[in-house]
Amino acid sequence: MSTHDNIALSVRGAGKFYGDRCNYCRNENNPLNNNICPYCRTVFAVDDVSFDLYKGEILGIVGESGSGKSTLMKMLYFDQERSAGEYYITGYAEGVPNVFTLSSQHRREIQNEILGMVYQNPVYGLKMDFSSMSNIAEKLIAAGSRNVGEMTAAGDHFLDKVNIPLDRKFEPPENFSGGMQQRVQIAKALSNYPPILLLDEVTTGLDVSVQADVLELIKEIQRELGISMIVVSHDLAIIRMLCDRTMVMLNGSVAEAGITDQILEDPKHHYTQQLVYSIL
Ligand SMILES: Nc1ncnc2c1ncn2[C@@H]1O[C@H](COP(=O)(O)OP(=O)(O)OP(=O)(O)O)[C@@H](O)[C@H]1O
Ligand SMILES: [Mg+2]
Ligand SMILES: [Zn+2]
Repeated sequence: MSTHDNIALSVRGAGKFYGDRCNYCRNENNPLNNNICPYCRTVFAVDDVSFDLYKGEILGIVGESGSGKSTLMKMLYFDQERSAGEYYITGYAEGVPNVFTLSSQHRREIQNEILGMVYQNPVYGLKMDFSSMSNIAEKLIAAGSRNVGEMTAAGDHFLDKVNIPLDRKFEPPENFSGGMQQRVQIAKALSNYPPILLLDEVTTGLDVSVQADVLELIKEIQRELGISMIVVSHDLAIIRMLCDRTMVMLNGSVAEAGITDQILEDPKHHYTQQLVYSIL
């Protein structure tokens, strides 16, 4: 357990396994075939991951496709049940309980009040056929809001912040472009001022110019609201632009972690070296 003043959340030994594991792969010293047990075929999507997120920082998670980034994010947002590990949130019950083991009711509380999630695919974060304003109201009601005037004001504030024209606030996101949908998703995730925001590949698939706008917006919001963020990307350029510290994942595990600039200047792990040289 961590009660460090500057820590927003701590994860220790987190694991997500698809399969029953056998005697061979229960021994963590035995090598796997990438992330799969050669004997029982259990997939170790996330395997013994530990890290801290500091208050007010943007932590990057980078790694190739299949390295476990999304699985880890879904575990942190309780979209997926963990197989192993501990998870402490300083802003919840003084960081004492392992929140992985809480009842679904308490997890929902954390989901509604402490965490914001922006999915790679806006379909998971938005009701596409509800208006943008209703999407935000839904999040606020889940977080305990009951005052319609306040909800409307918050909706206006955040839609304006992400540059959605307010005369379109009653339109459903299915009418919007990908970049606009992503911005509505960000507005919704921010609307109750969660202290921790999780962003999974938010700009993948967007036009380069739209991508720059969304990244600039994320940076600005972080500076203004002091939110702690985890930004997942397979793109080192995005990580370099946004993240103070970075964790590199490979086959479900942490290959290396540290100050972003240091990792980029002097990558220690062979995989990170390849990643860095590939963008030079
Ligand atoms: N339901 C499942 N059953 C078995 N394996 C799974 C399941 N879901 C995910 N996996 C495996 O877990 C691993 C991690 O997947 P994950 O989606 O977390 O990777 P990622 O780093 O987010 O990749 P990408 O960059 O492509 O989004 C992959 O090997 C994937 O095949
Ligand atoms: Mg992913
Ligand atoms: Zn096995």
